[in-house]
Amino acid sequence: MPLLSRLIAAVIGLCLMSAAPVMAQNAASDLRPKYLLTGAIDRENDDLSGQWTYSKDLYRTGLTDINGWVAKSRMQRYRDLDVAAEEAKGGATFFEFDMDRGPQMSIPGAWNAAEPELRYYDGLIWFQRKFTPKALSGKRAFLRFEAVNYRAYIYLNGKEIGRHEGGFTPFVFEVTDALKAGENRLTVGVDSKHDGKTIPTEITDWDLYGGITRPVRLIYTPQTFVDDATATLTTQGRITGSVQLNGANAAGQAVTFAVAGAGIKVSATTDATGYAAFDVKAPKGLKLWSPESPTLYDVTFSAAGDTLKDRMGFRTIAVKGEQILLNGKPIFLRGISLHEEEFGTNPARRITPQAARALLSEIKYGLHGNYVRLSHYPHSEVTVRLADEMGLLVWSEIPVYWTVDWENPEALAKVKHMQAETIYRDRNRASVILWSVGNETPISEPRTKFHNAMADNARALDPTRLISAALLVERKTIDGHVVIAIDDPLVDKLDVMAVNTYAGWYGDDKLDALPDMRWTAPQKKPIVLSEFGADALAGYHAVGEPKKFSEEYQAEYYRKTLEMADKIPGLQGMSPWILKDFQSPRREHPIYQNGWNRKGLLSETGEHKLAFEVLADYYVRKAADTAK
Ligand code: GCU
Repeated sequence: MPLLSRLIAAVIGLCLMSAAPVMAQNAASDLRPKYLLTGAIDRENDDLSGQWTYSKDLYRTGLTDINGWVAKSRMQRYRDLDVAAEEAKGGATFFEFDMDRGPQMSIPGAWNAAEPELRYYDGLIWFQRKFTPKALSGKRAFLRFEAVNYRAYIYLNGKEIGRHEGGFTPFVFEVTDALKAGENRLTVGVDSKHDGKTIPTEITDWDLYGGITRPVRLIYTPQTFVDDATATLTTQGRITGSVQLNGANAAGQAVTFAVAGAGIKVSATTDATGYAAFDVKAPKGLKLWSPESPTLYDVTFSAAGDTLKDRMGFRTIAVKGEQILLNGKPIFLRGISLHEEEFGTNPARRITPQAARALLSEIKYGLHGNYVRLSHYPHSEVTVRLADEMGLLVWSEIPVYWTVDWENPEALAKVKHMQAETIYRDRNRASVILWSVGNETPISEPRTKFHNAMADNARALDPTRLISAALLVERKTIDGHVVIAIDDPLVDKLDVMAVNTYAGWYGDDKLDALPDMRWTAPQKKPIVLSEFGADALAGYHAVGEPKKFSEEYQAEYYRKTLEMADKIPGLQGMSPWILKDFQSPRREHPIYQNGWNRKGLLSETGEHKLAFEVLADYYVRKAADTAK
């Protein structure tokens, strides 16, 4: 339906219903994925995790042949073909693949951890698994991929059903008419290759992790179903939200939004586009979500015989002057940064609920934290939902990292879609308070224009949360004092200024000089330290003067940096770099690193380093101070 008619329909719809966040709907509608299947994990589904066969295709001959010609049929991995049976017939036909008799891999999980020969494989690999769906009996069926890194080519029974670019966000294709009774053949081509036009580009300080890295599910829905729904507590003490139905009978449906245990039950009627909004006064007894009291309610959105269920917390987040206000009260973010890697010596980016809980428990209970920076890309929904449950505030980030092709409109379009896929997935998560638009991007006019567009887009998609970015800082010496200045035009667009600082690690600063370093900022806005850190190999204890890469140096670095932090005007939080050592091909010192970035407060197997307790003690004191 053309946008103009949607606008007219939305306005008519509004006249019949209470006021609704029209701006959020219209601004978001262009970027809204065709299907969201919000709350999919609670719907009837077949989890397709398990052993998949795979076939390497480094020269992409299964996709395109030399000169860009169509791939030779003998190489097309996606064909709906029993190669062994064809070969048994004899004759001239032959094949240069066989997905049925190929090697197997446990999916979800990155291929770099699956086989030694795939450790640094960077290119296309085809995956396949067969499955037998339930009888549809009038239902619809969808394939939902939680994440595939980086490009995905999806085929069902030999027919292409869709493609997706982006390694960290979910995507959905309807397969109702592509399924056949009995056994179906799902083939997924995954290309991990990044380049100057991808997001992120090819150089990052984290590992490849190519593959189907999060679960794939076959989801069943009624003909008309609740595709997406949201509800949020506003700073005016109201609960507003919306529901979007999908299907032939989406228009004119009665919708009920209910919050069990809070005495909320609201009805509305969908407009011609299947959209309905509601806006109701929050009940007096509503228990607000916070890290100290992460109250979640059972919420249902029902319409057309279908129900979308969710467990949601209600809270408000805002900034006022130099403060961040959670539920109207100032809060100090006691956090740490985290890459998406499970504990262990050979992580596959396989984040099960157990793996996520092991990581977040170190933050919540080990460090006495209330905040986590999920860097540098959208993490698994498992992790974000667990942050809701455990009570950790979340910084969510799009991997606009270091360098991007700032003047390429395709790059901006990709980023906006990544923002939409992330925000639509996580906008019901009380823990998420910050949308970050980038990390350490060198200042230039095209770069600032790009980020400004991202900030506008995030605000249009979700006017309820704060916008930030991890900025680089300027360093000057004034009257013999080191002054660290935030001087970035992007600040105008941000609610929270975040900065990465490594004085005392990169460069030749003496640790004793850190507490005297002064900070200046261009505006009275909250500041958070989004990164600071130093490498230490767990178990390496230098004798005498602390040496870099020793646990003692890292611990002293933390003590001195925290002393400096306590003098930063307007500092409202921090997420030091990083909870756990993580894999990076940029870190190859043969004694201290061996392919690991060692800035973790924990080793890759969870060993505590001395600095862990330094930060934990600081956060205990911080929590006591702010409780006063
Ligand atoms: C940068 C960057 C991180 C990187 C870290 C480091 O600030 O944001 O991704 O890992 O510094 O140098 O360890």
